Amino acid sequence: MVDSHAHYDNERFEADRDAVIRRSFESGVTRIINPGCDIGSSMAAIGLAETHPGFFAAVGFHPHEASAYLEGDMERLKALCSHPKVIAVGEIGLDYHYDYSPRQVQREVFKRHIELARCVRKPLILHDRESHRDVMDLVRSEKGWEVGGVFHCWSGSREMADEALEMGFHIGIGGSVTFRNANRLLDVAAHVPDERLLIETDCPYMAPEPHRGQRNWSGLLSLVLERLAAIRGTTAAALDCITTDNAVRLFKLPC
Ligand code: NI
Repeated sequence: MVDSHAHYDNERFEADRDAVIRRSFESGVTRIINPGCDIGSSMAAIGLAETHPGFFAAVGFHPHEASAYLEGDMERLKALCSHPKVIAVGEIGLDYHYDYSPRQVQREVFKRHIELARCVRKPLILHDRESHRDVMDLVRSEKGWEVGGVFHCWSGSREMADEALEMGFHIGIGGSVTFRNANRLLDVAAHVPDERLLIETDCPYMAPEPHRGQRNWSGLLSLVLERLAAIRGTTAAALDCITTDNAVRLFKLPC
């Protein structure tokens, strides 16, 4: 399994970070991708990638942190992109649920990240919460489809998923697929084509049932895989092969 979205630089792993990562790799997870949320967390992700062989980093400003973005940060991110274990630009996008940064600022910072990704030729790791229309429009107008990527923790409609798929993007599905109120997500989870599906934990958030509300970690990824396999009428082993191949191909991970 590849955990295509995890935040081990998060403060909730302060006490036992390296131990949890090691246990994750002992639990059947072969690779972990850790997106950054600002410059500091992107550098922390790279530090972890230098420590753990199966660990990879993405760099960027999360929409929550868009207000903290300063002139010159794009040059710093670009420099980080030349690190051999940086495999994507992310976590970037828009979040109109929390609105921690003004929407206009979020959109501007998002555009610059798409430009960066096209410049360094790396895929996008996208965050989209209650901002589906604007994310989709910006990815289209800024030519994000040139590099592709993944809409992580998918929460949109099936129609919107079709639009993302048509642009060549992957759909990342995590612990929310195990929640009782996941009706709309179940429909998407059942219909994403095999070759576009990724699995993720988004840890420390989004712990799957029966651990909902607890600190999440990559060892719980098998619960997402098993639920998805059941929804899609296949086996966990078969879906593991498919989603692992997809992540390896999209992020050009070493085998
Ligand atoms: Ni995330």
